[in-house]
Amino acid sequence: MSILVTGGAGYIGSHTIIELLNAGYEIIVLDNFSNSYPESLKRVHEITGRDMKVYAINLLEKDGLEEVFSENKIQAVIHLAGMKAVGESVEKPLKYYQNNLSGTLALFQAMQKYSVKKLVFSSSATVYGTPKTVPIKEDFPLKATNPYGRTKLMVEEILHDLYQSDNDWSISILRYFNPIGAHPSGMIGEDPADIPNNLVPYITKVAVGELDELKVFGADYPTKDGTGVRDYIHVVDLALGHVKALEWNLSTTGLHTYNLGTGKGYSVMEIIQAFEKTCGIKIPHSISKRRPGDIAISFADPAKAEKELNWSASRSIEEMCVDSWRWQSNNRVGDNKKGKKDEEIEATF
Ligand code: UFG
Repeated sequence: MSILVTGGAGYIGSHTIIELLNAGYEIIVLDNFSNSYPESLKRVHEITGRDMKVYAINLLEKDGLEEVFSENKIQAVIHLAGMKAVGESVEKPLKYYQNNLSGTLALFQAMQKYSVKKLVFSSSATVYGTPKTVPIKEDFPLKATNPYGRTKLMVEEILHDLYQSDNDWSISILRYFNPIGAHPSGMIGEDPADIPNNLVPYITKVAVGELDELKVFGADYPTKDGTGVRDYIHVVDLALGHVKALEWNLSTTGLHTYNLGTGKGYSVMEIIQAFEKTCGIKIPHSISKRRPGDIAISFADPAKAEKELNWSASRSIEEMCVDSWRWQSNNRVGDNKKGKKDEEIEATF
């Protein structure tokens, strides 16, 4: 019996697979490599010494999905595949609805057909919109403010309907806060194809000299130093959260939603300072205007995941900075993109 991980070559996926392999699970990866590279799976293999089966297909390819489910005994699915750039989703909403909704529906239909009813779904703290108070609890009102966020919220609603229709399902919805950091080996990490939108990948690109200066988007928020506050969580802690959620799914039925965050908020200025201090590199930065759509402050109440999944984040902000930097400094431009176009994607790594 295997665990199918969609989007397994991506940032969260590759780290999650390492923890799943370390916990002894057999893994099948489904990825279309639209925003990731086969190289990351080769490195997962190098880190763990374990093999996995890889399908280079799109969720929208019905025949491909059929192949995956008919050729394998799948016990559960961890569904991470999806597009995630907020700005792009505003410009190209149909692309986001097509990929994140139609692709997801096709997956759920295949799961239903093959009676695979155990699912971990990757959602986002974006579904809370602008929270009235912090820390944010799972039962806070939900409101997405852009097409990307709406796809996450819609899938959550679809899952509630699905569970309502068939109580044999076991579903965990994980709402991620701000994943940063990288595997401590420095071999895998976040690898945005273009100029990064997110704070920490941007900082590391400035640190490595690929970008000149960080723009701090607003210093007039009602926060401790005026800059935006977020709940940054080490991607390895996040990956371990998936393993705990999967264990819960495998042991019972039901639908549960969990915040995966640390419960602590750091401002943009605090992140710059933490990075400068732990990595010993100055980050040139200047204050610019607010980024449209940003909220002032967001951090989780992670108590539910701690109580019910026996999971909590343990890695510090310093570890997050050091691990992000190790990854970026070990992997200059294009290093990990080897094999993207020229090389055949092998079936097994
Ligand atoms: N920021 C800067 N300069 C930058 C990039 C970001 O000052 O160049 C600031 C932002 O204004 C914000 C903070 O850094 O205050 C964090 O920004 P990120 O873009 O790293 O993260 P967000 O919280 O905006 O977005 C993340 C995910 C989204 C998700 C959202 C809510 O990237 O996918 O959390 O969960 F929707």
